Amino acid sequence: MVRPKEENEPWRNFYGRLKGKSLRDSQKRYLDQDLAALSPGAVDWDVNPDRNPLDLSALFEDRDVWLEVGFGGGEHMVHQAASYPDVGIIGCEPYINGVAMLLGKIRDAGVSNLRVFPGDVRQMFDVLQPASISRAFLLYPDPWPKQRHHRRRFVTEEHLVPLAKSMKPGAIFRVATDIPSYVKQTLREVPKFGFKRIRDAEADLTTPWDDWISTRYEQKALREDRQPHYMTFERV
Ligand SMILES: C[S@@+](CC[C@H](N)C(=O)[O-])C[C@H]1O[C@@H](n2cnc3c(N)ncnc32)[C@H](O)[C@@H]1O
Repeated sequence: MVRPKEENEPWRNFYGRLKGKSLRDSQKRYLDQDLAALSPGAVDWDVNPDRNPLDLSALFEDRDVWLEVGFGGGEHMVHQAASYPDVGIIGCEPYINGVAMLLGKIRDAGVSNLRVFPGDVRQMFDVLQPASISRAFLLYPDPWPKQRHHRRRFVTEEHLVPLAKSMKPGAIFRVATDIPSYVKQTLREVPKFGFKRIRDAEADLTTPWDDWISTRYEQKALREDRQPHYMTFERV
């Protein structure tokens, strides 16, 4: 059911899947037992209609804070959290089955330096302090392959303006995709909104980052013979 909009709440269509296969009992248990403790604070409109910013220092003290947009099953987020215990990572993902998968992985890995918002990253952008994020990941975003749907992609003004605002000067934005037209759109659009491309040799486009772990969607792309691309930008 679609929740009625709060007064003044901006209208935001969400085009993805919120719920897929039914959850296993263990996944329901993770959601019941673990999700609340991993909350980054009041993000949704109904609990924070004044859009008060999150207190990131209360969450992570003075650690750098990273953001993963659409973490899917969460393998990359948990890998980064385990690899960089001195960083705090916030992940946003509205697909509840993905959130449940992440929670299982967090239990297995025993990492504690992450927080989970089970919703749309645009809600998160509203409540992030300007210049508070040191690194952001956009990994295999929804491809929207039809030309007339390219305006729904993440690499558009609607998302890139608030993303840029939330990031510190010098912060890093990583994008991975297997869709050639998404590569083109990313390389064209991201630099228009306060980022410059780094790690920009032609070979870099197909060379994963040193601390990369392949995600579920990348595995699917590889099985279907599509070439992954990796793009890196710096907030200027
Ligand atoms: C193609 S999947 C990739 C998942 C994962 N990053 C991977 O590489 O396996 C794209 C994900 O982005 C999520 N997504 C789409 N729009 C989003 C939004 N506005 N905010 C947060 N996540 C979003 C979808 O729910 C989906 O899980």
